[in-house]
Amino acid sequence: STYVVIMAGGIGSRFWPVSRTDYPKQFLDILGTGETLIQQTFRRFEKLAPLENIFVVTSTEYVGIVEKQLPMLPKDNILSEPERRNTAPCIAYASFKIFQQDANASVIVAPADHLILDQAEFENVCTQALQFIDTREALITLGIKPSYANTGYGYIQFSKEATEPGVHKVTMFTEKPDAERAAAFVSSGEYLWNSGIFVWKARSIISSIEKFNPGLYQLFKEKNSWLGTSFERLMIADIYAVCENVSIDIAVMEKADNVYIIPASFRWSDLGTWNSVWENMGKDTLNNAVAGNGVVVIDTTQCVVHASDEKLVVLQGLQNYIVVDTSDVLLICQKEKEQDIKTYVSEVKKLK
Ligand code: GDD
Ligand code: MG
Repeated sequence: STYVVIMAGGIGSRFWPVSRTDYPKQFLDILGTGETLIQQTFRRFEKLAPLENIFVVTSTEYVGIVEKQLPMLPKDNILSEPERRNTAPCIAYASFKIFQQDANASVIVAPADHLILDQAEFENVCTQALQFIDTREALITLGIKPSYANTGYGYIQFSKEATEPGVHKVTMFTEKPDAERAAAFVSSGEYLWNSGIFVWKARSIISSIEKFNPGLYQLFKEKNSWLGTSFERLMIADIYAVCENVSIDIAVMEKADNVYIIPASFRWSDLGTWNSVWENMGKDTLNNAVAGNGVVVIDTTQCVVHASDEKLVVLQGLQNYIVVDTSDVLLICQKEKEQDIKTYVSEVKKLK
């Protein structure tokens, strides 16, 4: 049957000061919808897999937050990682766990912190992917039409001929190219972005990990039988203490030759920056995107405002600004300078 793995261990530093290491982006209602991103992600899979087949993989320190935000999720379905080792170990852990329960399991792997509009289209694409892998040893990624040369994404070139309507064989997968290559990829018109949403059989990804990262595979394989027992935590602690820190994109997707892509037409954003949050929020008549109840904006345009409900925030005469007010930090920053927020964070750390 179908399983879902939600990856929720990232730290999201570009959303400082609302996103902190101890409370990162996936656990925030960054769009002001009344739901956090992981809650939205979870709901997105309701029709695709039964509740007991949905797993969340996250850092040990966030397990309590996940339990609180997804109270319906069986506690055993939260896989706790003692250290941050990026997505390859996270996917290996979940895949071994699921394979133990169901040797024929189909798995959808998804980040916890993305926005997908058009739920029906999302379900269609996933259903098509699930059908495709049912009879093939294939690793599928969902592709997004690129709009600019973002260097934080994977870029995928694929065969023009479809293997089956809508599904194409990947010819080259390039994770996070430099600016020059990213620009060339986008202008060629031949590439799609990797959405980071993958569909495969648990056994297919496990055998690809075995092939391309035998070290990681061995670690899990050796103690496989501890999964589901009271020794699982020990086993995972042992593995995470020594395993490589590597993303699945680099560990497997760039190397495997059985990768396929489904160009997806749903609206997608990884909500990587405040600007993308602004783009994806409802706006007032002067194009301000405002999250928080106590915000008054006067003669202010094109701003993104994120305030906690504890305080009244009044803005006058601002244009193209990011305003973020939390209980201990106030950030006011030009929208065009948002990439610099990361550097402010390190400056602030020096002050403390
Ligand atoms: N459990 C767990 N453990 N989750 C993790 C870890 C980890 O150590 N590291 C990251 N994650 C989660 C993040 O929370 C996020 O939901 C997802 O895994 C992807 O990790 P990111 O760190 O956000 O990856 P990225 O954005 O740099 O790149 C990936 O996503 C892009 C699309 O947004 C790649 O797959 C790119 O190819 C892709 O284009
Ligand atoms: Mg990301």
